[in-house]
Amino acid sequence: STIYLKDYRQPDYWITETGLRFELFEERAVVHSELQMHRHADSPADAELVLHGVELKLLSVKVDGQPWPQDKYSVDDKTLTLRDLPESFVLACVTEIEPHKNTSLEGLYKSRSMFCTQCEAEGFRKITYYIDRPDVMSVFTTRVEADKSQFPLLLSNGNAIERGELADGRHYATWLDPFKKPAYLFALVAADLEVVEDRFTTCSGRDVLLQIFVEAKDLDKCAHAMLSLKNSMRWDEETYGREYDLDIFMIVAVDDFNMGAMENKGLNIFNTSCVLAAQETTTDAAFQRVEGVVAHEYFHNWSGNRVTCRDWFQLSLKEGFTVYRDSEFSSDMNSRTVKRVEDVQHLRSIQFPEDAGPMAHPIRPASFIEISNFYTMTIYEKGNEVVRMIANLLGKELFRRGCDLYFERFDGQAVTTDDFVACMAEVSGRDFSQFQHWYEQAGTPRLAVAGQYDAEAQTYTLTVEQSCPATPGQAVKPNFHIPLAMALVGRRGLLPLELEGESHGVETVLDVTEKQQQFVFSGVSEKPVPSLLRDFSAPVNLSCAYSRDQLLFLIANDTDGFCRWDAMQQLAVAVISEQAEAWRAGESLVVDVRLVQAMRQLLQDESADRAMVALMLALPSLPYLVDLLDSPDIEALHHARATLRQHISGELQALLLDTYHSNMSDVEYQPSAEQIAQRSLKNACLAYLSLQSDFSAIERIQQQYQDADNMTDKLAALAAMVNSNSLHAETAKQAMLDDFYHAWKHEALVVNQWLQVQSACALPGGLERIKALMAHEAFDIKNPNKVRSVISIFCGQNAINFHDASGSGYEFLADQVIELNALNPQIASRMIVPLSKWRRLPAAQGDKMKLALERIMTSPNLSSDVFEMVSKALKG
Ligand code: ARG
Ligand code: ZN
Repeated sequence: STIYLKDYRQPDYWITETGLRFELFEERAVVHSELQMHRHADSPADAELVLHGVELKLLSVKVDGQPWPQDKYSVDDKTLTLRDLPESFVLACVTEIEPHKNTSLEGLYKSRSMFCTQCEAEGFRKITYYIDRPDVMSVFTTRVEADKSQFPLLLSNGNAIERGELADGRHYATWLDPFKKPAYLFALVAADLEVVEDRFTTCSGRDVLLQIFVEAKDLDKCAHAMLSLKNSMRWDEETYGREYDLDIFMIVAVDDFNMGAMENKGLNIFNTSCVLAAQETTTDAAFQRVEGVVAHEYFHNWSGNRVTCRDWFQLSLKEGFTVYRDSEFSSDMNSRTVKRVEDVQHLRSIQFPEDAGPMAHPIRPASFIEISNFYTMTIYEKGNEVVRMIANLLGKELFRRGCDLYFERFDGQAVTTDDFVACMAEVSGRDFSQFQHWYEQAGTPRLAVAGQYDAEAQTYTLTVEQSCPATPGQAVKPNFHIPLAMALVGRRGLLPLELEGESHGVETVLDVTEKQQQFVFSGVSEKPVPSLLRDFSAPVNLSCAYSRDQLLFLIANDTDGFCRWDAMQQLAVAVISEQAEAWRAGESLVVDVRLVQAMRQLLQDESADRAMVALMLALPSLPYLVDLLDSPDIEALHHARATLRQHISGELQALLLDTYHSNMSDVEYQPSAEQIAQRSLKNACLAYLSLQSDFSAIERIQQQYQDADNMTDKLAALAAMVNSNSLHAETAKQAMLDDFYHAWKHEALVVNQWLQVQSACALPGGLERIKALMAHEAFDIKNPNKVRSVISIFCGQNAINFHDASGSGYEFLADQVIELNALNPQIASRMIVPLSKWRRLPAAQGDKMKLALERIMTSPNLSSDVFEMVSKALKG
């Protein structure tokens, strides 16, 4: 059943205090709850109390200490309903659950030998009966009891206020969290873990104990997360004036986790992949992810916990804002331009297709069936872009004032995105009514831009037209307010901008608010090339009919890093598309020399940021091209792209080799922006050089594999070897894979990288390799990281194999979704995305994908998660 934002109303009862006692045993847990409750002042005296509860065994229910009569309550599979209640009372329930059988990884479950929880969004109802919605906030006191030798560590939110011994070798700990919170921020851990500790003194002088709990073997992999945490705490004080508010901040690493991490008050629970990092086991990209996720969860303490969401339609209130905060933090810690380009790349390759598909939704959706399906790139990453636009519109100082007002006014409350925007309007005096469409309308807006130079009048006219494709339930949409950052690039740099007699420096932001607008720049002394959407100033699809020479000019001369990268992308897309067309027609077409020329210039530019060079050398990925183009011929695109890479490798061989060698280094490893840049360029060169099928290419890979003192270089070598189609690689390939596995089989996160490299391999026979990996001892369908490393990588990134003409990839995915639906609906549901694109592909493939969806749809016991995704995908 669908839930609508317009139906929101406050609950009939509030909970002010929540007392919990957990008795944890090997095969069951008994949960005692005591809820201090009272009726809403506006609700009638006979209002029923409806509590959420799923997969619970109710053992007893009491009101004010008395067993509540049978005829005054009823239970079904989702609720407990009580009648004839007094105005205020204590409700006490005892329920029993089976954490060891909980494979959904929401609620209370076991990851290996430890007990842990994941309650966001609606997992608390799998622990005990509760009003499980974010506007019901209360103070939690939690007592955890378990066997002392097996579970020496007993944690929950807030501060530990009591510990003690119990009979039969058991013990307990009681935790009090003084801050009111909704149930989704509750957490509990019972485990046998080691700890890494540090301290942080806040700006007001409070001494905070920082703890990261991990398995003993991972103690040497916590330093990066700890440093990131301290940097985040300092940054949030300096940038937003936000201070930490408890005496202790804990992070627990768990192996089995549906997402990246969770911001439970004072007790963050992390997927091991987002907290552990060490030179030998972790790639540079993973180091940066750890830094970003630690920051993200920490920042939630204010943007999410102190000020939370009124209902789940407001999810982007905390997620979009917090992603904005963590991306700014990462930009300050590393290279700003590189971070921006990576974020845009991510947004365009995953969020844009989502916004163009059957699941398209606004960042504040109006309805949903299953909220878990709305932890999307749209809510998070497009949400980030919308907050970024607000921050840019206001400027640094006003935005900070708006945030101060928001945190101060709504501290301790559950609020809406409207409340957030209202603060920004209030401090700036700006009218946000048109801007609000970003919250309400789905779809990626399109901007069509054309420029016209009038040499005689010395004017340059930009004509800008906006539109937005229809999305489910939204056929026509009012115009957006789109901030279009731009400049005019001349032969000797940026030209001064003069609009209607007013000077705008050399860079400006045009407010695009109408369907069509013209901007006439005067005093333009030469024909410029426009630099548009600088720093990606709005999450839109911009088109401008640049000639290839103009793109080359921008690559060489634009001062905006994003625009230079984007020009290279556009050039590459054009060249690959025309190569694919030729291949389809059975013709051979000479590769446009200008692309190779642009890459040569980049490689020769000593002053260029190496990470940017690496990003610009990489051709757009096949899945990106498939999503970008209409009715794509995947085989043709794959062939065109592969041939082009081969061509670049041959043409630039000497230069690539030079660059490869000059970026080798024996400086001690650091995950610093500078070193990461250097390794990324070196490994980009290695990947191109490995396309040469001579023996020395294989030897070079082997040499790097042997010499590498860090996982970035080692994995780059392994990937180059696995993807090599040289005859010389045949035996060497298996030897390297075996060596890697045997060296790392006790490190789950390293084994996952070994799985990923093989799952992404585009060489023929992909599905057979996947099936072999799934039969390997390293695979476990109950562990989301393994599922992602094999099945999701294959179906989402290995486009040429997944879309095999036989349809075997689709059949395979349907089988996996059906199996996972029974084990872990959240993970099953996410895997449907590749099939949901069936309408965009040629019928030969699209029809088979649709059949696979229909087979899932008719399989028994569909979870609401999978049902929503498949039914929407079929409806289109
Ligand atoms: N709030 C978490 C974060 O953004 C995400 C947890 C959501 N988990 C889930 N199973 N839906 O960091
Ligand atoms: Zn978050």
